[in-house]
Amino acid sequence: MKLWAGRFSKEADKRTNDFNSSIKFDSRMFREDIDGSVAHAAMLGAQGIISAQDCEKIINGLKGIKEDILSGALLIDPDAEDIHTFVEQTLTARIGDAGKRLHTGRSRNDQVATDIRLTLRKECDEVMDQLRHLTDTIFNKAHEHENTIMPGYTHLQRAQPITFCMQLSAYVSMLERDMGRLSDAKARMNVSPLGSGALAGTTYPINRQMTAQLLGFDGVVENTLDGVSDRDFCLELAAALSILMVHLSRLCEEIILWCSWEFKFVELDDAFSTGSSIMPQKKNPDLAELIRGKSGRVFGDLMTLLTMMKGLPLAYNKDMQEDKEAIFDAIDTVKMCMTAMDPMIETMRVIPENMRRAAAEGFINATDCADYLVGRGLPFRDAYKATGELVALCIREKCTLETLPLEQYKAICELFDSDVYEAIKLETCVRNRQKPQA
Ligand code: ARG
Repeated sequence: MKLWAGRFSKEADKRTNDFNSSIKFDSRMFREDIDGSVAHAAMLGAQGIISAQDCEKIINGLKGIKEDILSGALLIDPDAEDIHTFVEQTLTARIGDAGKRLHTGRSRNDQVATDIRLTLRKECDEVMDQLRHLTDTIFNKAHEHENTIMPGYTHLQRAQPITFCMQLSAYVSMLERDMGRLSDAKARMNVSPLGSGALAGTTYPINRQMTAQLLGFDGVVENTLDGVSDRDFCLELAAALSILMVHLSRLCEEIILWCSWEFKFVELDDAFSTGSSIMPQKKNPDLAELIRGKSGRVFGDLMTLLTMMKGLPLAYNKDMQEDKEAIFDAIDTVKMCMTAMDPMIETMRVIPENMRRAAAEGFINATDCADYLVGRGLPFRDAYKATGELVALCIREKCTLETLPLEQYKAICELFDSDVYEAIKLETCVRNRQKPQA
């Protein structure tokens, strides 16, 4: 029986119910739905809107329903319209008329807005815990390699010498900002829309501060239309998760490159790699590729939410039921990616010799060679030009700046002396640059 049976003379067609129902994806919020109802009932009782006996019956009934769902004794009806309806109807079936008083001064519109905020608040904490751990893993790996020299790249061309510590620490900084964005998103979502009613508040003498406090919210959404209409907290979270996925995806892309025979800077542990069905020699970085691939899903979820919201008149519209699948998918995807990525990086073997070898080729100390001349009074543009000529000479002579004889240096610029060799050592180049901050 539908909630609105009084107004209607026919049962809903099965196809209407199948299409309209959100139980498949909102039953995930059963705990939060019940917690919200317990707080609402306690407030109704405290305000004298329902009797103390009814209040107690409702709260005990709701607690029993939660326990029974958790233990498996009560199965959620897959044909129910949504989790809110299922819980309320089960309550009334169990405790009788008192159950019918629960929805006094409330609408499913403020109920669902409350449930999503409670659910996402908890999810934010879980994502942040995982992110903190992943950031620590990358930080630790970085600091095992404070002296491991590798080429830094621009345009994927060898550019200047850096340490592997510096390269990984860049990601640590990015992930720390992601953490800040998630914690901002959580703080902004943590206000209570409960008491907004359908849209215009309610005529009952409710106490919104009380329900907000019982549910651990920091305050209430002031404007009741705003309370039931906006999902900007979902957008903000999806945006923060999307940016996080950009960072994970870029690091995965680098790991994929570093694993290739062309680089061989790292090797992934066998337990976090896969083989090929036909090529016996293959060891593939599937996890890293899949994380890179799954970033697209999360961006898609953000786009779904933005598009779903952009043309909606105030207040609630059924379109908004689409919020849950998108934001839950984004959260689940990000969590899954971090679960795979953390041990993959922890067990990743770094091969410093190959990094050092790559750093020794490609004239990545050329900037330092020019800076040496600047130190001897030459303007940078002239120093740059002289060093360019030296590099061209080395390429012709098939040697490096380290092995080019001093006479050849002097032939191009008088200011060179034997201490140039110390100045262009990769270790010197790295030491003379800013230390990573992480
Ligand atoms: N299942 C609905 C949703 O997720 C609950 C709110 C229903 N409200 C309404 N006025 N139909 O959005």
